[in-house]
Amino acid sequence: MKSIQELSSLISDELSSIKYPKTPSSLYEPIEYILDLGGKRMRPILVLMAYQLFGKNIEKAIPPALAIEIFHNFTLLHDDIMDNAPLRRGQKTVHEKWNNNVAILSGDTMLVQAYQLISDVDNTIVKQVLAVFSKAAIEVCEGQQWDMDFETQSDVSITDYLKMIEYKTAVLLGAALQIGGITAGASTKEQNHLYAFGRDLGIAFQLKDDLLDAFGNIETFGKQVGGDIMANKKTYLYLKALSLSDKKQRADLKQYFSTNDTSQLKIDSVKAIFYKLAIPELTTNLIKEYHLKAMDNLAAINSENKEPLLVFSSLLMDRVS
Ligand code: IPE
Ligand code: IPE
Ligand code: MG
Ligand code: MG
Ligand code: MG
Repeated sequence: MKSIQELSSLISDELSSIKYPKTPSSLYEPIEYILDLGGKRMRPILVLMAYQLFGKNIEKAIPPALAIEIFHNFTLLHDDIMDNAPLRRGQKTVHEKWNNNVAILSGDTMLVQAYQLISDVDNTIVKQVLAVFSKAAIEVCEGQQWDMDFETQSDVSITDYLKMIEYKTAVLLGAALQIGGITAGASTKEQNHLYAFGRDLGIAFQLKDDLLDAFGNIETFGKQVGGDIMANKKTYLYLKALSLSDKKQRADLKQYFSTNDTSQLKIDSVKAIFYKLAIPELTTNLIKEYHLKAMDNLAAINSENKEPLLVFSSLLMDRVS
């Protein structure tokens, strides 16, 4: 069984061994750029860890693991245009370094490449893996559309938000784990637990991302801090604050989140209200709840090799980047 570190190096080596054509350079350079910036490589590591629960020949799980990481990076290229984000992994976003058209087309190419890699799994499981992957991929788009719609929608509920993050983020973690399981011959029951484990971990992960977006440190987080507040994102932080606010705080929050103001003053004022209402603690509590739900699903799986998944998911919950 390989350790987290070994799996992480394996993924990095495999990704850097992919050779892209030289021309058109504005199509391929951005792909190499974003992949070289690294990131946590959480999704492919989860594919391989799920494989390791039941399988012995990890090479079999590498193509789908790479597919999911490349798909994830495609979503980031498009997401950064949609979110008007200047920074990714501590460096300029692709649309800032090149332009929107480049980020769109390089992203599209990565999506197709992800499918090429997915089709490299064994013939006997290719239909099943494609079905899980495609379902998650469409749901990511649905989640992303809700995320954008909610920016200008004033009556978003916490239930709406949780469904939105389940779709835009969590289903891909679920699919990564399920695909790792399928590749290793997991039963339907085990696959379902793997999916549910990933989904709940993914909800906790996006809650943490939203917390770090407001309260993280730009040096470690590598993304703009305060971007969600600037864009009027209806995160749990905002929605929970609204539900706990007094009349004045509520009016202020509503006012700030109905303008195109992207000033530091807006960010600081909103964060001050979040602090007063103990939003960081309350968000951390909800993260823990979803982490525990995820752990129940992992506990229901019968394998001797669960330790890396257990450790890795705790690390993700405590992350600063
Ligand atoms: C960023 O994902 C997008 C979200 C779902 C929050 P990651 O935080 O996994 O990004 P990298 O790949 O590690 O940079
Ligand atoms: C992104 O959510 C989810 C996807 C990319 C599908 P965010 O917009 O919060 O991700 P970051 O914070 O830009 O990484
Ligand atoms: Mg987004
Ligand atoms: Mg974003
Ligand atoms: Mg975010």
